[in-house]
Amino acid sequence: MVSTEATSTLQQLARRHLWMHFARLSAYEEQEIPIIVRGEGCYVYDEHDKRYLDGLSALFCVNIGHGRADIAQAGADQAKQLGFFTNWSYAHPPAIELATRIASLAPGDLNRVFFTSGGSEAVESALKLARQYFKLAGKPRKHKLIARETAYHGTSLGALSATGITALREPFEPLAPGGCHVPATNLYRLPEGVPASSLAEAIAHRIAFEGPDTVAAVILEPVQNAGGCFTPPEGYFQRIREICDEHDVLLISDEVICAWGRLGEWFGADRYQYQPDIITTAKGLSSAYAPIGAMIVSDRVAEPFLSGAASFTHGFTFAGHPICAAVALANLDALERERVLEGVRSGEPVFRAMLESLRDLPIVGDVRGAGYFQAIELVKDARTKESFTAAESDSLLRGFLAGELYRRGLICRADDRGEPVIQLSPPLIAGPEQFAEIEAILRPVLGDAGERMGCKA
Ligand SMILES: Cc1ncc(COP(=O)(O)O)c(C=O)c1O
Repeated sequence: MVSTEATSTLQQLARRHLWMHFARLSAYEEQEIPIIVRGEGCYVYDEHDKRYLDGLSALFCVNIGHGRADIAQAGADQAKQLGFFTNWSYAHPPAIELATRIASLAPGDLNRVFFTSGGSEAVESALKLARQYFKLAGKPRKHKLIARETAYHGTSLGALSATGITALREPFEPLAPGGCHVPATNLYRLPEGVPASSLAEAIAHRIAFEGPDTVAAVILEPVQNAGGCFTPPEGYFQRIREICDEHDVLLISDEVICAWGRLGEWFGADRYQYQPDIITTAKGLSSAYAPIGAMIVSDRVAEPFLSGAASFTHGFTFAGHPICAAVALANLDALERERVLEGVRSGEPVFRAMLESLRDLPIVGDVRGAGYFQAIELVKDARTKESFTAAESDSLLRGFLAGELYRRGLICRADDRGEPVIQLSPPLIAGPEQFAEIEAILRPVLGDAGERMGCKA
């Protein structure tokens, strides 16, 4: 039965005309579409003015928090000055200023910034740049990329060849050729007797197997989102840097989520102290007040494109849009001025301790992540790590948890692209008050979920 609220005009129009992404549209025949109308700090409000704690920063985006009039104003001011001009062979002050600012924050010699409108475009650009770079370098056979199983790198056909989620790939095959996958850093489920160091070595083996003269790039997130915030083991990225150098393979750090303070540093590569050749980013760059992404490239990789007739034959009309660039600059100003990254560094242990305290619930198998990017893996039996079946996981997440958490006022992610997980990634201005609020909702709901699923204490 559709509730009376669901018959509101917005509900009807959304049902009829709006195609929500990654959504089972049929589910909305039975339930209300969540229509979010405004936001303030860590909270958003729906069409009934019900308040929700945005424990997901609107899909890992709104790092500075909702409702910042100063950031909106920066966009409005820029619109009056120059509403739009393109970066296709032209420049404008906001793009120049933002590229300079990003270069000053990015690690090492990552000094050249190619703007995009979002994350998939940034990944697509990096994969294309890697191919063209090696053609210019006289190694035209280098075109393959190595990514990790379960990782999400975007949905455009090129980026999808890096994405390691079968259910997202299958409907669109054949994909761009050359995508190869190795195991993710799932330390919780590392088979007995297998050392964590084997995870980096899997990349070396795969490069050898494919033939180093065919491999262009390795693409990895600092902390892998899909599967539930898989962190790297000690020394992982340092070893991968060595492997890439040995085989002349580019290391792309996909920081669509992990940059701009999410892990307590400007970039995830800073947190784990490695030097990528390319960083791809989006989301938190503007705290999503306007859509903008970027590919940040090392001087070495940009070099072949700087002389003679060479040009990166690739671009997007809207990329580097002046309004988006002005908004991103205002966002970076706010993150810096308000010492938001320092806040994440001091808040992380408190956030983590709250999540760890849930381990007494029989359904909580693992707690993992970094910064304000954390996950809880749900299991049938925490002692044996027994997993739910696919049908149980579907019924747990879609039949109960996602709806119940939302009903109680918490927006988070209940996902099973790997094992079932709850992911929390609040705005970076969140603190003890929000962590306590998250616990007050999560604890009873996960307790109920455990009972429903017959989890063993
Ligand atoms: C690591 C990573 N790469 C790429 C993307 C794709 O970004 P977008 O949805 O902006 O295209 C995402 C999106 O969540 C992501 O998390």
